[in-house]
Amino acid sequence: MKDLKNKTAFITGAASGLGLGIAKACAKEGMNIIIADFRQEAIDEVLPLFKENGWPVHGIRLDVTDREAYVRAADEAEAVFGNIHLLVNNAGIGHTEGKIWETGYEDIDFFININYTSILNGIKTILPRILKHGEGGHVVSTSSKNGLIPLSGMVLYNSTKRAVMAIMETLAIDLEGTGVGASVFCPGPFQTNLGKTTDELRKKHLGSPYPPADMSRMRKMRENMPKFEPGSLERSPDEAGERVVRGIKRGDLFILTHAEWKKGWEAHAAAVTRAFPDEVPNEVFMQVFSRNVANPIYDTQTQVPAFKK
Ligand SMILES: NC(=O)c1ccc[n+]([C@@H]2O[C@H](COP(=O)([O-])OP(=O)(O)OC[C@H]3O[C@@H](n4cnc5c(N)ncnc54)[C@H](O)[C@@H]3O)[C@@H](O)[C@H]2O)c1
Repeated sequence: MKDLKNKTAFITGAASGLGLGIAKACAKEGMNIIIADFRQEAIDEVLPLFKENGWPVHGIRLDVTDREAYVRAADEAEAVFGNIHLLVNNAGIGHTEGKIWETGYEDIDFFININYTSILNGIKTILPRILKHGEGGHVVSTSSKNGLIPLSGMVLYNSTKRAVMAIMETLAIDLEGTGVGASVFCPGPFQTNLGKTTDELRKKHLGSPYPPADMSRMRKMRENMPKFEPGSLERSPDEAGERVVRGIKRGDLFILTHAEWKKGWEAHAAAVTRAFPDEVPNEVFMQVFSRNVANPIYDTQTQVPAFKK
């Protein structure tokens, strides 16, 4: 979607952090903004910023895990701004869970519902509306660099974020020729309220915040690292928003933020390549199962230039 002006964006988790950065960047492009977030007080806090700038905005309190509420939120968005063109499935939580075998099922369900199932809720509720009006559009879902390279102690986070990548890579093929694009956003570290809101939401859903994560391994690793100001390496959500808007306009399948992770991804890809048995592929098999052996959507991803602030 190249021209965003006067189009409408429905952004979940937009009352804070990356979602807010994306909402601001979309507003600067002239879009109408729906801020859909679980926390009404956070929505109330950010609305004035949009109004002061003359950016069309409407806040909707929405828990993205509630399917009926999602339909009502989409109806409300359309009643305010008309057709929706951009869906950003961004609401999510994050946590260093520790050992998955010691994690309770209530935490597993809580996490999967918010970080995985809600993405499907968003797609099922909003995408048919975008396809129906025929004016074109785009869907972005927020994964993480953990979807590319898993971090220890984060089975739920890593696996739900990898699943979000699979959803969007498949959606991109399924949407070919419809005028609706799909991107997966895999950010590295940004300064947001993720820890705070995750604890708040766990308290609301399960009665208490997460117990503190075991940081002993991280502390040990830091002993051998160069000195740096805590927080100085995380980037601003505004920058994340600009990068997402650039990715939407370019039609990027993958919207990545940190070149620092390229090496880790290359190690991952090389390990998988080495794991294929050293056997000669059967050409007939490859032709018969061509859809299984190559995904043409990857050819659409061109080299992303350096980001200019
Ligand atoms: N901050 C980072 O460094 C980072 C890195 C990679 C990926 N991410 C991902 O970015 C996304 C946004 O997180 P953030 O870092 O901006 O955190 P944040 O806490 O600042 O913002 C997340 C927003 O989502 C909302 N939210 C959470 N659960 C919701 C629900 N069920 N329904 C509706 N709204 C809900 C919260 O209320 C909050 O306003 C998440 O999916 C997170 O996993 C963040």
